[in-house]
Amino acid sequence: MKNYIKQDPWSIIEEGFDPELNKISESIFSLGNGMFGQRANFEEQFTGHSLQGNYVAGVYYPDKTRVGWWKNGYPEYFAKVLNASNWIGIHLFFDGEPLDLAKAKIHAFRRELNMKEGWLKRSFHVALPSGKEVKVVAQRFCSMARTKVGAISYQVTPLNFSGTVTLKPFIDFDVINADANYDEKFWEEVDKKADSHFSYVVANTKKTNFHVVTGMAYDITGGWVQESISAQEKEKYVEVTEEGSIQEGVPFTVFKYASNISSMHVDKGELTSVCQKEVLKAQQSGYEELLQEHVNLWAQKWEKSDITIDGDVSAQQGIRFNIFQLNQTYTGEDARLNIGPKGFTGEKYGGSTYWDTEAYCLAFYLATSDQQVAKNLLLYRYKHLQKAIENAQKLGFTDGAALYPMVTMNGEECHNEWEITFEEIHRNGAIAYAIYDYINYHNDPDYLLEYGLEVLIAISRFWAQRVHWSKQKGQYVMHGVTGPNEYENNVNNNWYTSKMALWTLQYTLDGLQAYKGNAALDALLSQLKFSPEETKHWQHILDHMYLGYDEERKVFLQQDGFLDKDIMTVDDIPKGQRPINQNWSWDRILRSCFIKQADTLQGVYLFEDEFDRETIERNFDFYEPMTVHESSLSPCVHAILAAKLGRKEKAYEMYLRTARLDLDDYNNDTEDGCHTTSMAGTWMAFAKGFAGMRVKKGELHFYPMLPAQWKGYSFHIKFRDCHLTIAANSTSVEMSNESETHLSLFVYDEAYEVNGGETIRLNLKN
Ligand code: BGC
Repeated sequence: MKNYIKQDPWSIIEEGFDPELNKISESIFSLGNGMFGQRANFEEQFTGHSLQGNYVAGVYYPDKTRVGWWKNGYPEYFAKVLNASNWIGIHLFFDGEPLDLAKAKIHAFRRELNMKEGWLKRSFHVALPSGKEVKVVAQRFCSMARTKVGAISYQVTPLNFSGTVTLKPFIDFDVINADANYDEKFWEEVDKKADSHFSYVVANTKKTNFHVVTGMAYDITGGWVQESISAQEKEKYVEVTEEGSIQEGVPFTVFKYASNISSMHVDKGELTSVCQKEVLKAQQSGYEELLQEHVNLWAQKWEKSDITIDGDVSAQQGIRFNIFQLNQTYTGEDARLNIGPKGFTGEKYGGSTYWDTEAYCLAFYLATSDQQVAKNLLLYRYKHLQKAIENAQKLGFTDGAALYPMVTMNGEECHNEWEITFEEIHRNGAIAYAIYDYINYHNDPDYLLEYGLEVLIAISRFWAQRVHWSKQKGQYVMHGVTGPNEYENNVNNNWYTSKMALWTLQYTLDGLQAYKGNAALDALLSQLKFSPEETKHWQHILDHMYLGYDEERKVFLQQDGFLDKDIMTVDDIPKGQRPINQNWSWDRILRSCFIKQADTLQGVYLFEDEFDRETIERNFDFYEPMTVHESSLSPCVHAILAAKLGRKEKAYEMYLRTARLDLDDYNNDTEDGCHTTSMAGTWMAFAKGFAGMRVKKGELHFYPMLPAQWKGYSFHIKFRDCHLTIAANSTSVEMSNESETHLSLFVYDEAYEVNGGETIRLNLKN
């Protein structure tokens, strides 16, 4: 765990430069606008430790699979979101000497990510090896208002010398993914031009043939007298060289305007001209105007999604950081895009789509964005249904059964560890549950008929084939499974997975019943060659499925044989041996009772209404002490359950762990990128945990509580047509309906009507 980020309610601040922390900071201070994003690399040359990272949404490469022992059914490739062109670069030389922080003596260094306004600023004062001292203030942003545009203001002051400066604004598309399996470069040059007015590089991805253009223009203002100008081109690289004279103490500023556009959004033949238009328009608007537009857009985002926490700056900074990263990763206009576990902050996990989206991210976008945003996340999977059916066929399933991939960009499976690819099938359940979640939240039953049932039928067909009849038990069982807890592989009857399967079958049957006789449903069923026998079979499974339960402890069994393990608690792990995944052999982990992430408790959380308080409590008290939370997705679920059980301290501990996971580098891996998808888990821990927000049978409920460390909190949600602000302090809770539409809701199970513009105030029960 690290502790170098300064606490501030709206900004992430680093003071002083520690090269050892640079890669972590590059992740934390990342920027994005839903269409492209980047790590917080430096504009000027830097020869120290760095992971140069620029990413364009949806653009990927199918990198040939690398495994030790090939298994039938493995995918041929792993889709990687590509490290794309470096568009921020401006190299500087003072009388020929490069500005490079790895070689300079650093007198002062400060980095700030202003989350309220969405910009990154770096200021530093350094002495070059020659003794020349310069001060730099560099600010940049990826425009939320013009999502093809990014802009940089780079101000330099020569502090103790006058002389010549060489400035080289450039675009470098000659980049390689750090995670490339065979050290292969994935980009090929298509076109380029270096010119002082507008320079660009167009490159295409091998195999997938995405074209991406990056263009730039720049202005130099202030204490600078131009002496010469020239333009250079190299493979996949363009730069302009400006030489000029500068005066001691007189600042000059380079404004760089850039645009990144992919062929997903503009026809290949028009990429360059559209890019040129965007860049020149941005240049004409100027940095300040662009920044103002961008800041205004962020203000709108915060109006919908901000959470304030009174009396705890650390928690405040944590939650805003999570919300900020989510808002800059996915904006939801395009149903072909999704949310990679690292967003635009790194390469690990290939940048592809995981079950994280449905199980963790959906809730945030449901409550803080327009309906279409969440719908697009669902449509993404709907569009991949055929591929999910093909994926199941490859594994031997038939008759329209679908297994959605563990990891994907285009619907095809990319993951290649058998215990996950073939066995971590609970992901199918999360995709089915998301359909319910969306319909329940937005009251959009048409979705079920138009899209949902087709997906649900295919997933139900999979579950019906994946279970088998055990003669010994006289029940259906599900063998060879890995639950969300990846520290157990190839187990039988993982409670969570079986429960998800049963839930899907029931929800699909309910949906079929609800639309019985509907012509559109009949047409769908005949297109799917659906037979009434299937529903009978599903019902039989529902009536005869085995779910493990321990009579003595009265807890659900994570899997068969779990109680044969040496049951210990996390406190029994010797000091210095955590995280166990960095200290123990895999064999030792698998045989231990320790749980990587919420598994049985994930199911208890999802289906909480089926269980009484004592059942939830018993399961929590049994599984929580064994959970090491070595997946970032874990603490949020425990926080929600702890809050539900009134365990305020535990809920707070779990909340802080998820909220500050990256800021404090809890898992010692933030340098690879931030845990973007688990950031939505932080939002859930707050909204579903401390505010106790639920949508039950289409109705909005709250069970607010306040952690002892906080004086109060407030947050916003959009529920259908209503904007609601919920505020709590140590004695009361207020619900303010900020729209014109009237809203019915429940607080602590009591019904209230809140007219448009009205606020209700109630006592806080703690
Ligand atoms: C977790 C998975 C998750 C993946 C990507 C893994 O460590 O165990 O549940 O989908 O990370 O976030």
